[in-house]
Amino acid sequence: MKIQIIFTTSTGNTEHVVGVLRKSLESKGISVSSQLAEESKPEDLLKGDILILACGTWNTGGSEGQLHIRMDAFLNSKSKDIDLGGKQVAIISLGDEEYYFTGRATEHLIRFVMEHNGKLIGSPLLIINDPEEQEEKVCKWGERVVELSSACHA
Ligand SMILES: Cc1cc2nc3c(=O)[nH]c(=O)nc-3n(C[C@H](O)[C@H](O)[C@H](O)COP(=O)(O)O)c2cc1C
Repeated sequence: MKIQIIFTTSTGNTEHVVGVLRKSLESKGISVSSQLAEESKPEDLLKGDILILACGTWNTGGSEGQLHIRMDAFLNSKSKDIDLGGKQVAIISLGDEEYYFTGRATEHLIRFVMEHNGKLIGSPLLIINDPEEQEEKVCKWGERVVELSSACHA
Protein backbone atom coordinates (compact mmCIF):
# COMPACT_ATOMS: atom_id res chain seq x y z
CA MET A 1 0.00 0.00 0.00
CA LYS A 2 1.18 3.49 -0.85
CA ILE A 3 0.01 6.68 0.80
CA GLN A 4 0.37 10.10 -0.75
CA ILE A 5 0.17 13.09 1.64
CA ILE A 6 -0.25 16.62 0.36
CA PHE A 7 -0.03 19.27 3.08
CA THR A 8 1.01 22.78 3.86
CA THR A 9 2.06 24.56 7.02
CA SER A 10 3.03 27.96 8.37
CA THR A 11 3.90 27.39 12.02
CA GLY A 12 5.09 23.79 11.55
CA ASN A 13 2.06 22.27 13.32
CA THR A 14 0.72 20.42 10.27
CA GLU A 15 4.25 19.39 9.36
CA HIS A 16 4.61 17.90 12.83
CA VAL A 17 1.38 15.90 12.50
CA VAL A 18 2.38 14.65 9.04
CA GLY A 19 5.81 13.67 10.36
CA VAL A 20 4.33 11.68 13.26
CA LEU A 21 1.86 9.95 10.93
CA ARG A 22 4.51 9.16 8.37
CA LYS A 23 6.86 7.63 10.94
CA SER A 24 4.07 5.53 12.44
CA LEU A 25 2.87 4.20 9.05
CA GLU A 26 6.40 3.53 7.78
CA SER A 27 7.14 1.51 10.92
CA LYS A 28 4.33 -0.81 9.75
CA GLY A 29 5.92 -1.24 6.33
CA ILE A 30 3.63 1.20 4.53
CA SER A 31 5.18 3.38 1.86
CA VAL A 32 4.43 7.07 2.46
CA SER A 33 5.25 10.06 0.31
CA SER A 34 4.59 13.59 1.54
CA GLN A 35 4.86 16.88 -0.31
CA LEU A 36 3.89 20.51 0.09
CA ALA A 37 0.74 21.76 -1.66
CA GLU A 38 2.66 24.73 -3.04
CA GLU A 39 5.13 22.37 -4.73
CA SER A 40 2.44 20.00 -6.03
CA LYS A 41 0.80 19.57 -9.39
CA PRO A 42 -2.87 18.57 -9.76
CA GLU A 43 -1.80 15.09 -10.99
CA ASP A 44 -0.08 14.52 -7.64
CA LEU A 45 -3.57 14.20 -6.14
CA LEU A 46 -3.95 10.95 -8.07
CA LYS A 47 -0.82 9.22 -6.76
CA GLY A 48 -0.86 6.43 -4.17
CA ASP A 49 -3.65 4.11 -3.03
CA ILE A 50 -4.80 6.64 -0.45
CA LEU A 51 -4.50 10.41 -0.66
CA ILE A 52 -4.29 12.39 2.59
CA LEU A 53 -4.90 16.14 2.50
CA ALA A 54 -3.68 18.05 5.57
CA CYS A 55 -3.72 21.71 6.56
CA GLY A 56 -4.66 24.18 9.23
CA THR A 57 -7.63 26.54 9.38
CA TRP A 58 -6.67 30.13 8.54
CA ASN A 59 -8.16 33.54 7.83
CA THR A 60 -7.56 33.28 4.07
CA GLY A 61 -9.30 36.10 2.22
CA GLY A 62 -9.81 38.03 5.46
CA SER A 63 -12.37 35.86 7.23
CA GLU A 64 -11.60 33.13 9.72
CA GLY A 65 -12.52 29.46 9.29
CA GLN A 66 -10.91 29.05 5.85
CA LEU A 67 -8.34 26.72 4.34
CA HIS A 68 -4.67 27.63 4.68
CA ILE A 69 -4.02 30.06 1.80
CA ARG A 70 -1.58 27.74 0.00
CA MET A 71 -3.91 24.73 0.23
CA ASP A 72 -6.76 26.91 -1.00
CA ALA A 73 -4.68 28.03 -3.99
CA PHE A 74 -3.62 24.47 -4.76
CA LEU A 75 -7.04 22.85 -4.48
CA ASN A 76 -9.47 25.53 -5.51
CA SER A 77 -7.44 27.26 -8.24
CA LYS A 78 -4.66 25.02 -9.55
CA SER A 79 -6.61 21.74 -9.21
CA LYS A 80 -10.10 23.09 -9.84
CA ASP A 81 -10.60 20.77 -12.85
CA ILE A 82 -9.21 17.55 -11.36
CA ASP A 83 -11.30 14.38 -11.40
CA LEU A 84 -10.30 12.20 -8.45
CA GLY A 85 -11.98 9.24 -10.15
CA GLY A 86 -13.29 7.65 -6.94
CA LYS A 87 -9.93 7.89 -5.18
CA GLN A 88 -9.90 7.19 -1.45
CA VAL A 89 -9.11 10.39 0.41
CA ALA A 90 -8.57 11.00 4.13
CA ILE A 91 -8.50 14.42 5.72
CA ILE A 92 -6.48 16.07 8.47
CA SER A 93 -7.35 19.56 9.63
CA LEU A 94 -5.88 21.68 12.38
CA GLY A 95 -7.22 24.64 14.30
CA ASP A 96 -7.18 26.50 17.56
CA GLU A 97 -10.11 27.04 19.92
CA GLU A 98 -9.02 30.64 20.32
CA TYR A 99 -10.90 31.18 17.02
CA TYR A 100 -14.70 31.09 16.77
CA PHE A 101 -14.73 29.00 13.55
CA THR A 102 -12.60 26.28 15.09
CA GLY A 103 -11.07 23.71 12.76
CA ARG A 104 -13.31 24.61 9.83
CA ALA A 105 -10.67 23.63 7.27
CA THR A 106 -12.34 20.23 7.66
CA GLU A 107 -15.48 21.17 5.80
CA HIS A 108 -13.58 22.89 3.00
CA LEU A 109 -11.45 19.78 2.46
CA ILE A 110 -14.52 17.50 2.54
CA ARG A 111 -16.24 19.72 0.03
CA PHE A 112 -13.27 19.58 -2.35
CA VAL A 113 -13.24 15.77 -2.19
CA MET A 114 -17.00 15.49 -2.74
CA GLU A 115 -17.04 17.97 -5.62
CA HIS A 116 -14.14 16.26 -7.38
CA ASN A 117 -15.40 12.69 -7.32
CA GLY A 118 -13.25 11.48 -4.41
CA LYS A 119 -14.31 8.90 -1.83
CA LEU A 120 -13.87 9.96 1.78
CA ILE A 121 -12.33 7.29 3.94
CA GLY A 122 -12.87 7.30 7.70
CA SER A 123 -13.58 10.35 9.83
CA PRO A 124 -11.45 13.46 9.39
CA LEU A 125 -8.62 13.81 11.91
CA LEU A 126 -9.14 17.09 13.74
CA ILE A 127 -6.21 18.44 15.74
CA ILE A 128 -7.22 21.40 17.85
CA ASN A 129 -4.56 23.47 19.64
CA ASP A 130 -0.96 22.32 20.05
CA PRO A 131 -0.41 19.01 18.22
CA GLU A 132 2.34 18.02 20.67
CA GLU A 133 0.93 15.35 23.01
CA GLN A 134 -1.73 14.40 20.43
CA GLU A 135 0.60 11.94 18.74
CA GLU A 136 -1.27 8.84 19.92
CA LYS A 137 -4.47 10.14 18.36
CA VAL A 138 -2.61 10.73 15.08
CA CYS A 139 -1.12 7.21 15.01
CA LYS A 140 -4.45 5.51 15.87
CA TRP A 141 -6.23 7.50 13.17
CA GLY A 142 -3.61 6.44 10.61
CA GLU A 143 -4.04 2.78 11.53
CA ARG A 144 -7.81 3.08 11.16
CA VAL A 145 -7.54 4.70 7.73
CA VAL A 146 -5.31 1.86 6.52
CA GLU A 147 -7.72 -0.75 7.96
CA LEU A 148 -10.70 0.88 6.27
CA SER A 149 -8.89 1.14 2.96
CA SER A 150 -7.77 -2.48 3.08
CA ALA A 151 -11.35 -3.58 3.87
CA CYS A 152 -12.55 -1.65 0.76
CA HIS A 153 -9.98 -3.41 -1.43
CA ALA A 154 -10.64 -6.89 0.00
C1 LIG B 1 -3.78 34.42 11.45
C2 LIG B 1 -4.31 33.11 11.94
C3 LIG B 1 -5.63 32.75 11.68
C4 LIG B 1 -6.14 31.54 12.15
N1 LIG B 1 -7.46 31.24 11.94
C5 LIG B 1 -8.00 30.13 12.53
C6 LIG B 1 -9.40 29.86 12.41
O1 LIG B 1 -10.16 30.59 11.80
N2 LIG B 1 -9.86 28.73 13.01
C7 LIG B 1 -9.06 27.87 13.70
O2 LIG B 1 -9.54 26.88 14.22
N3 LIG B 1 -7.72 28.10 13.82
C8 LIG B 1 -7.17 29.22 13.25
N4 LIG B 1 -5.84 29.46 13.36
C9 LIG B 1 -4.99 28.48 14.10
C10 LIG B 1 -4.23 27.52 13.16
O3 LIG B 1 -5.11 26.77 12.35
C11 LIG B 1 -3.43 26.55 14.03
O4 LIG B 1 -2.48 27.27 14.79
C12 LIG B 1 -2.74 25.47 13.22
O5 LIG B 1 -2.18 24.52 14.10
C13 LIG B 1 -1.67 26.04 12.31
O6 LIG B 1 -1.07 25.00 11.59
P1 LIG B 1 -0.04 25.29 10.42
O7 LIG B 1 0.93 26.32 10.93
O8 LIG B 1 0.60 24.00 10.16
O9 LIG B 1 -0.80 25.83 9.26
C14 LIG B 1 -5.30 30.65 12.89
C15 LIG B 1 -3.97 31.01 13.14
C16 LIG B 1 -3.47 32.23 12.69
C17 LIG B 1 -2.05 32.60 13.04
